[in-house]
Amino acid sequence: MDDASAHQGTARPPVRVIFVGSPGAGKGTQAAKLAEYLGVPRISTGDMLREAIASGTPLGKQADPLMGRGNLVPDDLLIALVRERTTREDCAQGFVLDGFPRTVRQAEGLAQMSDGEVSDWTVFSVEVPREELLRRLSGRRWCPRCQATYHLTSDPPKVDGVCDNDGEPLVQRDDDREEVVARRLQQYAARTEPLIGYYRERADMVEIDGNRPMAAVFADLKKHVGVTA
Ligand code: AP5
Repeated sequence: MDDASAHQGTARPPVRVIFVGSPGAGKGTQAAKLAEYLGVPRISTGDMLREAIASGTPLGKQADPLMGRGNLVPDDLLIALVRERTTREDCAQGFVLDGFPRTVRQAEGLAQMSDGEVSDWTVFSVEVPREELLRRLSGRRWCPRCQATYHLTSDPPKVDGVCDNDGEPLVQRDDDREEVVARRLQQYAARTEPLIGYYRERADMVEIDGNRPMAAVFADLKKHVGVTA
């Protein structure tokens, strides 16, 4: 069976996965692989906000200056966004959350969406040393059309500077500039890291060493969602 779709069409209880990790930890990279593997949607609040900015929606207009400076977007907006997204039909078999929750208040909002019950959720806390985070973020390149992510050396596109999916020229994300990265890391330490203690007490929380090749990290994640393909 194709490793990327091992769970598609299989009857099983809904699977709900959360990734907690610093900017650059590899959440998006791994969440995309895991969602495909499980046959459920990946819900990336960062991608949703960037789409809102590109479309010029009221949410995008509010988020743009905050994201551009490396600050978080207000909790209530994110909780409403995720509530709406997770109640859609395609989430009936579960979903993989990437970048949400990012504060304890968001985690409480998420718990309310599932009647306070999160004990059967899998929470991956992905750890990567700061030096490696900086290397990853400075070398990340991104497709503004389909939001695919690459890295200049760790995960380059097939053709230099061009997205494999749609041929769009790759760019650096605005918030990957050095001064914005410093603020994002600071926000992570102050506002998101407390989630690790929060979920350790309430959910199936698994600490993952993210400072390994992508395939090794993914193999580890698969073990913890209870599947060997
Ligand atoms: P978001 O887009 O979620 O950014 P982030 O959390 O800062 O995470 P990143 O996308 O930077 O990193 P990642 O962990 O996904 O790493 P990736 O896989 O890309 O959010 C952006 C902004 O939106 C926030 O700052 C905030 O303003 C706002 N926002 C979003 N959600 C919010 C919320 N819930 N509440 C409030 N505000 C919110 O990998 C990084 C690079 O490393 C890539 O180039 C990749 O190819 C490479 N790489 C990945 N894994 C490996 C590996 N194992 N080895 C070598 N290289 C690797």
